[in-house]
Amino acid sequence: MSGRLNGKKAIITGAANGIGRASALLFAKEGANLVLADVNESDLGQVEKEIKDIKGNVLTRKTDVSSEEEIKALISIALEKFTNIDILVNNAGIGGGLDALEEQKSEEWHMVYDINVMGPVYATKHIIAHMKARRSGSIINIASVAGLLSGAGGNAYSASKAALINFTKTSACEVGSFNVRINAICPGLIETGMTQPFFEWARSVGKESQLGKYCELKRAAAPEEVAWAILFLASDEASYMTGQAIPVDGGITASMSVPGRKI
Ligand SMILES: NC(=O)c1ccc[n+]([C@@H]2O[C@H](COP(=O)([O-])OP(=O)(O)OC[C@H]3O[C@@H](n4cnc5c(N)ncnc54)[C@H](O)[C@@H]3O)[C@@H](O)[C@H]2O)c1
Repeated sequence: MSGRLNGKKAIITGAANGIGRASALLFAKEGANLVLADVNESDLGQVEKEIKDIKGNVLTRKTDVSSEEEIKALISIALEKFTNIDILVNNAGIGGGLDALEEQKSEEWHMVYDINVMGPVYATKHIIAHMKARRSGSIINIASVAGLLSGAGGNAYSASKAALINFTKTSACEVGSFNVRINAICPGLIETGMTQPFFEWARSVGKESQLGKYCELKRAAAPEEVAWAILFLASDEASYMTGQAIPVDGGITASMSVPGRKI
């Protein structure tokens, strides 16, 4: 590894599994000091152990991102431990259901919004004064291709990711003059805890080879392939990038999926 985050201090939410875990391990290998948060304390402990095994500097804290109080506590503990925070990755998210519109419950919509939208809003709100004062910071929101186009998730999930993409742009424009950068990554189909049931079902009915076939690279991705893009946006290499929503999706948003043509 080349130390692309040497000496940087980063908070990652939803770090116990999937894309968050892959990012935490990659950031640690690239020299970052880490504060990792998740509701799943046991899996978070496992990631902490893996990072300590590679001599990474890490603090973990059980945090529900839908609670503003818990986010405030997380950020204050992070600042107490590391004095400065350079990077925030708002990664924690849930999928929500796929019920028909007339059957969707408002509680489900609220839960998806509380985690997928308000989580990043609370974390950004409580770290931004610190980053503005230092005139330095990079925030990366993990949105989805579902926030760009229909066809990749339920209504509530897709709408929440579209909201997160717009929050990325409006907040980036608000703080750009303070040299704080805010971008989003829009993953396509990635094999993680969130999508595991789908992958297991496809394998059980012998349709594994069809997974991801509608994207141009004709396959689903591993979480590490998203982590590399997050690392780039977090690093100083992305110093002139802000307000962007970048698909990491095997090309699925590059073309129209005309039924019968895109096989
Ligand atoms: N897997 C995909 O195909 C895919 C595609 C597009 C976007 N994403 C996005 O990537 C992000 C990471 O998801 P993943 O695929 O790695 O899924 P995952 O389920 O493997 O990991 C998500 C992590 O977030 C944590 N989490 C859930 N609710 C939380 C809360 N309220 N507070 C704190 N932590 C919480 C979970 O415990 C879990 O560890 C999500 O925002 C998701 O919407 C995933």
